[in-house]
Amino acid sequence: MLARTALRAIPRRAFSTSAPRQTKVAVLGAGGGIGQPLSLLLKMDPLVSSLSLYDIRGAPGVAADISHVDVAGEVNGYPADKLEDALKGVEVVVIPAGVPRKPGMTRDDLFNTNASIVRDLAAAVSKTAPKAHILVISNPVNSTVPIVASVLEKAGTFDPARLFGVTTLDVVRASRFLSSLAGTDPKDTHVTVVGGHSGVTIVPLLSQTPQAKSVIANKETYEKLVNRIQYGGDEVVKAKDGAGSATLSMAFAAAKFTNSLLRALKGEKGIVVPSFVKSPLFEKEGVEFFSSNIELGPNGVAKIHGLGELSAEEQELVKAALPELQKNIEKGVKFAA
Ligand code: NAD
Ligand code: LMR
Repeated sequence: MLARTALRAIPRRAFSTSAPRQTKVAVLGAGGGIGQPLSLLLKMDPLVSSLSLYDIRGAPGVAADISHVDVAGEVNGYPADKLEDALKGVEVVVIPAGVPRKPGMTRDDLFNTNASIVRDLAAAVSKTAPKAHILVISNPVNSTVPIVASVLEKAGTFDPARLFGVTTLDVVRASRFLSSLAGTDPKDTHVTVVGGHSGVTIVPLLSQTPQAKSVIANKETYEKLVNRIQYGGDEVVKAKDGAGSATLSMAFAAAKFTNSLLRALKGEKGIVVPSFVKSPLFEKEGVEFFSSNIELGPNGVAKIHGLGELSAEEQELVKAALPELQKNIEKGVKFAA
């Protein structure tokens, strides 16, 4: 009996909350490697009162399975031809639909397949749930987020405060990798990661993390750490050897970001997390979307923070990220046009 009570307490403690609020959340791509564990984690989140699971394959099965978990909240699964039904009354839409990488591929190599998947899903959200907050996981994030923005813009439903590229996995990795070098607990080791979500566009601001001081002091260790954060995705792709990319750590990261947003939507103050959003920070340089610390509020993005003080190395990293980001963003905008 004690074991059962303890087991029940563990996953729900992973989510921060004070009082429940009724929020209907949809996962588009719920049958996939990310979609399945993410749906389970969202079911465990007390702030999610209803889960709508959609995929072109397998969502009703995943929903039936998850619906047996003995926590409150309803779960419904929708097959390929029921996207509109899946989106009815939804306030938050999380999108992990699309193909993952295989060894030797870049995220940009996924563009040809994933761009149209994301475009069509965005059009459906715009039509059925035009006020929903949209969290994009599908790669290449640097291009898929601008695609969603363009689709919504054309439909007259775009609100930059409600569109997020999920870059939380980079933040999670940075915290974990740094902690293993510095001997700290990841729970207290927060790293701000800015820019975008691929290779050189991933810029960890380690100089702003007190626990990183000794690591930064050694040039070789610092450079290796930055490289590992920028190419952490490749590590998983290589290890999975053709069976896909990060799914479990990604589901964890997406559930964490969703919980931050849900808490902000219900009025919790002071929630600041990085996310790839429409941003004024590098607009003058021609980069319209950028990930930096975002203060979340009851309507989504409440404030976009600047980058703060950067080391000389970080200034170089940002400089290197901008042209690549600009290219990725332009590609998305051009496609949607
Ligand atoms: P997967 O192949 O295991 O699952 C993808 C799911 O999407 C499948 O179930 C598929 O049926 C579904 N799908 C395809 N077209 C669809 C459509 N039109 N509507 C609804 N569902 C559709 O892949 P995965 O490992 O879950 O990865 C999904 C995406 O997430 C990939 O593009 C991957 O690169 C990306 N990803 C992003 C991050 C990040 O940090 N943002 C991290 C990991 C993976
Ligand atoms: C990741 O960072 O793990 C994801 O973007 C998946 C990938 O292709 O590496």
